[in-house]
Amino acid sequence: MWKVKRSKIHGAGVFATKQIPKNTDIIEYIGEKVTKKVGDIRSAQRIKKYLNSNKTGSVYIFELNKKFDIDGSPLYNKARYINHSCEPNCEVSIKGNRIWITSIKKIKKGEELSYDYGYEFDKDDFKDHVCKCGSKYCIGYIISSDHWNKFIAHLTKNVKKLKNL
Ligand SMILES: C[S@@+](CC[C@H](N)C(=O)[O-])C[C@H]1O[C@@H](n2cnc3c(N)ncnc32)[C@H](O)[C@@H]1O
Ligand SMILES: [Zn+2]
Repeated sequence: MWKVKRSKIHGAGVFATKQIPKNTDIIEYIGEKVTKKVGDIRSAQRIKKYLNSNKTGSVYIFELNKKFDIDGSPLYNKARYINHSCEPNCEVSIKGNRIWITSIKKIKKGEELSYDYGYEFDKDDFKDHVCKCGSKYCIGYIISSDHWNKFIAHLTKNVKKLKNL
C-alpha cells in the first residue's frame, strides 16, 4: 500500500503505491514502548544532541497515553519517514495501545503521505522549522493548523509595530 522513497519535501518520505480510501489505517507507528519519564529524557537528550551538532534532526517520541510513549526511532519504524504538511492527507490515530497513521481523505497512487506534526506556535523558535510541504495553503513554517491563528496574530502585531500603527 506504501513505500519509502526520496521526497521533494525533505529527505525520505512515504508514498502511496495504490489508491487508498479515506479512513484507512495505513501504517502503524511502531517502536519501543517506554514510560513518559524515559520518553521525556530521550526527547531532551536528542534535542540537545541536535542543537550541539548544528544539524537538523528529529525526535521520534510519540505520546501513547498518560503513562507511556512510543520511541519510534528504530529504523524498522517506516512511519518515522512521514513528512509534515499544512494540507495533510493523514492524521495520527491512537487505537488502544497502538498508534496508526490513518487517511483523512482519498489518497491517489503516488501521492506522498503526510500529517500535521502538531507543533505548537512558539514565537522564539518557529523559524527553526521552515515548512516545504509545497501546498498552496502552506503557512511557511511547521506549525499545527490549530495554532495558525496565534502565528497570524504574532505577524499582525509585528507589522503594526513596524508601520507604527
Ligand atoms: C520524522 S522526520 C520525517 C522524515 C524525514 N524526511 C527523513 O528523511 O528522515 C521529521 C523531519 O523531517 C523534516 N520535515 C518533515 N516535514 C517537513 C516539511 N513539511 N518541511 C520541511 N522539513 C520537513 C524536518 O527536518 C523534520 O524534523
Ligand atoms: Zn507547509
